[in-house]
Amino acid sequence: MSRYLIFILAYCLGAIPFAYIAGMIKGIDVRRHGSGNIGTTNAFRLLGVKLGILVLLGDFLKGALSVSLGLWAFGPWGGIVGGLLAMAGHSWNPLFGFRPSGKGVAAGFGIITVLMPKITLIAVLVFVLVVWLTRYVSMGSVSGALTVLILVFVFPQPIAYQVFVVIAVLAVFVLHRSNFQRVLNGTENKFGEKKK
Ligand code: G3P
Repeated sequence: MSRYLIFILAYCLGAIPFAYIAGMIKGIDVRRHGSGNIGTTNAFRLLGVKLGILVLLGDFLKGALSVSLGLWAFGPWGGIVGGLLAMAGHSWNPLFGFRPSGKGVAAGFGIITVLMPKITLIAVLVFVLVVWLTRYVSMGSVSGALTVLILVFVFPQPIAYQVFVVIAVLAVFVLHRSNFQRVLNGTENKFGEKKK
């Protein structure tokens, strides 16, 4: 069996819409409520903590597994291709017509945990601090992403990892455009608050 098949597998893993599936279990279409995003944050917001944790786990693992398969088969560059394909499958999901369908944060979290666990830990602390200060999960996500972007150059990593982070962080920022807009309008959902 060709090792290249793992890239197809990574893309398919990324495209498993855990938030959508969890929503269906509860009879809620997550695309139509809350932020409308098919992601972990919206799952917590709409479906509660238990299903939220399961979605987080699913999204995290699909990222972690995809990058691990790539690393195993082809080394660092294979790892980042696997990771990027998983993020692409997640965020522009073919099951939903390739429209923006997830913001890549939980899947990206799984990927960077495998690639650079210490930097990930610092980014998680920044995420928690920013969410605590602002009550905006989205602002925690972009701050955590920015932290990773800075730290991969402060604490030099293999160039493949740096390339991954530049592309992934750019994608995360692009996918959070609606959140930036809502923060400016004062309509962004706040952590712990019921959906708007
Ligand atoms: O990880 C996604 C989060 O940063 C924002 O999610 O649902 O508030 O748009 P949401």
